[in-house]
Amino acid sequence: VTNTPAALPSRLSQAAIPEEILRILRRLKDAGHAAYLVGGSIRDLLLGKPAKDYDVATSAHAEQVIRLFKRVIPTGIKHGTVTVLMGPFSVEVTTFRGEGAYIDGRRPESVVFLDNVVDDLARRDFTINAIAFDPIERKLVDPFGGEGDLDARTLRCVGDPKERFSEDGLRPLRAVRFASVLDLQIDPPTQAAIPETLGTFDRVAQERVREELSKLLTGPHPDRGVSLLEQTGLLKRILPEIAPEWLSFTLRRLAAIATELPLRLAALLFEASSAVAESALQRLRYPRKVIDAVAQLVELKDLPFSRFPDDASVRRMLACAGRDGIDALMALAAAQAQALGDQELIRSVANLRTRCAQILSHAPPLSVGDLALSGDQIARVLRCPPGPRIGEAIRYLLASVIEDPSLNRADRLEERLKSWRPTAG
Ligand code: CTP
Repeated sequence: VTNTPAALPSRLSQAAIPEEILRILRRLKDAGHAAYLVGGSIRDLLLGKPAKDYDVATSAHAEQVIRLFKRVIPTGIKHGTVTVLMGPFSVEVTTFRGEGAYIDGRRPESVVFLDNVVDDLARRDFTINAIAFDPIERKLVDPFGGEGDLDARTLRCVGDPKERFSEDGLRPLRAVRFASVLDLQIDPPTQAAIPETLGTFDRVAQERVREELSKLLTGPHPDRGVSLLEQTGLLKRILPEIAPEWLSFTLRRLAAIATELPLRLAALLFEASSAVAESALQRLRYPRKVIDAVAQLVELKDLPFSRFPDDASVRRMLACAGRDGIDALMALAAAQAQALGDQELIRSVANLRTRCAQILSHAPPLSVGDLALSGDQIARVLRCPPGPRIGEAIRYLLASVIEDPSLNRADRLEERLKSWRPTAG
């Protein structure tokens, strides 16, 4: 179980673990406790990537940890977790634990605290996440062969996959996320256990599903991730809105689009209506800003594909998407053209992108704020109080100047207003 210092993987022995993190470990050990770095940070260091955040597992109980450090947050005392603040770091320090039965596939009902790290590692999800490292004694604890699995690029559950997945229904989705983000092959027994434990997955909170889905989608291989979701039956559970018959195009679109989350979600939900996309993202509890951005992209997705648009049509598209939204819309259109593999369409989208930039360089009026007459001025010309009629007049003038930007002068707009008749009332 314990490697001698000479056998330490070079990436770990060369990893520069911040002094503040070492200080936390040293203080725990000086007080007679065992203390290790565990989880994602060790995995990432072994992969030669910088660690995102450090988690510590220790034999010390939460009250003992609290007494040893000045700045602590009692994050989850019941589960043995306190957050220690040290310099710029906030580090979760958790007592070695095994977990009691999971009542609903979400959270363990009871926790038993243990005194050794191997038993703590045994309850973790995947071998690559079940490695502990004591950088002070340069001791690696890797009882399930996580390092070898990383080298072989294999994702494997610790022990029996069905048991691991039934304990926490999020784990099947984590399996697919790690496989796609880290480019690992899922070990066949681990993959085979996913369809068998989907009942537990169904009980997981949508927020947790969303977090994993977002990590999967913004990783380097979103197409592979979504394909794995489909193969394992998870996609139908997470997003039944995605039509299986369009999947191959969806995968190609995902492979062709930039990393931003709203773009990736729009590429994923491209075939849906904007209302369907919106309700799917609401169910997953995405923030309003993300939902609006995606719904708008899906709503406007066909605009860039109109045949031979004249300048006025391009300005109408710019007005709909907004100066801030047009890049995303064109990126989505470019990914769609790529997905269809249609060279002519790819060229025409590229052309349209150039024309958008040219037209925008003339700063044409595209929104109400750009009009040469204010709402008050319009109300004065029409001799009418602010209200729906003024709203209609504004929309009329805006449509006019988008059609012909040279109309956007106070005198010419006033002239047009005089011959304008509202449609209703
Ligand atoms: N873990 C687990 N089962 C889960 C979630 C987490 O066994 N459902 C364990 C794993 O050992 C994991 C550690 O808790 O490495 C920390 O979990 P988390 O912070 O969620 O993920 P990371 O592995 O750190 O990965 P990332 O930072 O990429 O989310």
